[in-house]
Amino acid sequence: MKVLIVGGGGREHALAWKIGGSPYADEVIVAPGNAGIRRHARCVPVADTEVEGLVSLARDEGVGLVVVGPEAPLVAGLADRLEAEGIAVFGPSAAAAEIEGSKAFAKEFMERRGIPTASARVHDALGPLLEHLEASPLPVVVKASGLAAGKGVAICRTRDEALAAGRDFMEGRIFGAAGDRVVVEEFLEGEEASFLALVDGTRVLPLAVCQDHKALLDGDRGPNTGGMGAFTPVPSVGEDLAARVTDEVLLPAVRGLAEEGRPFRGLLYAGLMFTPRGPRVLEFNARFGDPETQALMLRMGSDLLPLLAAAAHGDLGGGTVEWREGTSLCVVMAAPGYPAKARAGLPISGLDSVEAGPDLQVFHAGTREEGGRTVTAGGRVLGVTAFAPTGADARRRAYDATRRIHWEGVQFRTDIGARGMAPR
Ligand code: AMP
Ligand code: GLY
Repeated sequence: MKVLIVGGGGREHALAWKIGGSPYADEVIVAPGNAGIRRHARCVPVADTEVEGLVSLARDEGVGLVVVGPEAPLVAGLADRLEAEGIAVFGPSAAAAEIEGSKAFAKEFMERRGIPTASARVHDALGPLLEHLEASPLPVVVKASGLAAGKGVAICRTRDEALAAGRDFMEGRIFGAAGDRVVVEEFLEGEEASFLALVDGTRVLPLAVCQDHKALLDGDRGPNTGGMGAFTPVPSVGEDLAARVTDEVLLPAVRGLAEEGRPFRGLLYAGLMFTPRGPRVLEFNARFGDPETQALMLRMGSDLLPLLAAAAHGDLGGGTVEWREGTSLCVVMAAPGYPAKARAGLPISGLDSVEAGPDLQVFHAGTREEGGRTVTAGGRVLGVTAFAPTGADARRRAYDATRRIHWEGVQFRTDIGARGMAPR
């Protein structure tokens, strides 16, 4: 089968690496890809937002399955267009992807369906929003309802911060139309975990539980990012807890979407906070997590491709996923200036000094070739990912490789997995 992967980040590199290793993959094409993906797949320069260009590419190439990485093309209706052309796609319709594309929709949906989540109110006018923020307990969480590349969430510890975030989102429109509706949410404390599951419209096949590190700096300080590192499994989330999340969150969400005429096929991602009052959903995503996917792909024992194809065809029944015994951990290396404004064009050194194999991969995110060199071309640049029998060894292996790679102003956290991997 010919497979087209849409996207050009670390998640797509990990997917291309994994799918490329499947005996069922005759060829893997990635649009648009990046400098690292080019070594595993044929990259075609069609942007991930060019819906019609992607549909033509899939049709002209006779692709058997399209796997959509990022959320924007899903929200823009790429899966609907592919289905209309009779092309199988792993990724939900625009209507189902609204669970990520509109936090306002997701909140109201969770309330209707009794899915546990932080309590919240949705505003679409500035006056009532500011009034609410004047009166809310602190800290308070202010979220742009629409897509904002993981940056539309402000955790506000002071009244001034809260009011400023409300104004910036809705009046200043720093995230454009994404901030025309704003969700004000109670602040929750606890351990976070990412639950990713393959979904075929009605059935759910959960993947191994991951933990992401959203803050830029060690000790969870600094601004929020798309994710600075991840590992799997999460020792503090045992099988019982994972089963509870499947029953209380994933299944009701999939059932609810189907009942409301938006059947979900693709990857459903629930970001959870384990609070003293039980698990609470912070967000749903309609696609694979980044960098969770990098960690997951290195640890997955099963062939992913048949599972994605089965989900796309509404036929996951009987599917299972095997995981290698051990821990997989990804350290994200980012460009200077990230997440505000990343510097591009910085030459990357040391890439050849890392010997890649089944237990160590340097997945590329924002990279490109320039004059025979690999240079930075985005905020998150590389995801150095290692697998080992113990968490401590996976950390050591990933950080040994990370320290051999360099560019001017490189940023990475030194504490990925330091806290959450300890059994509790
Ligand atoms: P979201 O995109 O909604 O998942 O938010 C991004 C990150 O902000 C989450 O991964 C959490 O670390 C943090 N966050 C979001 N909502 C809350 C909340 N209600 N309480 C505390 N932290 C939150
Ligand atoms: N790592 C978080 C996300 O993919 O949204």
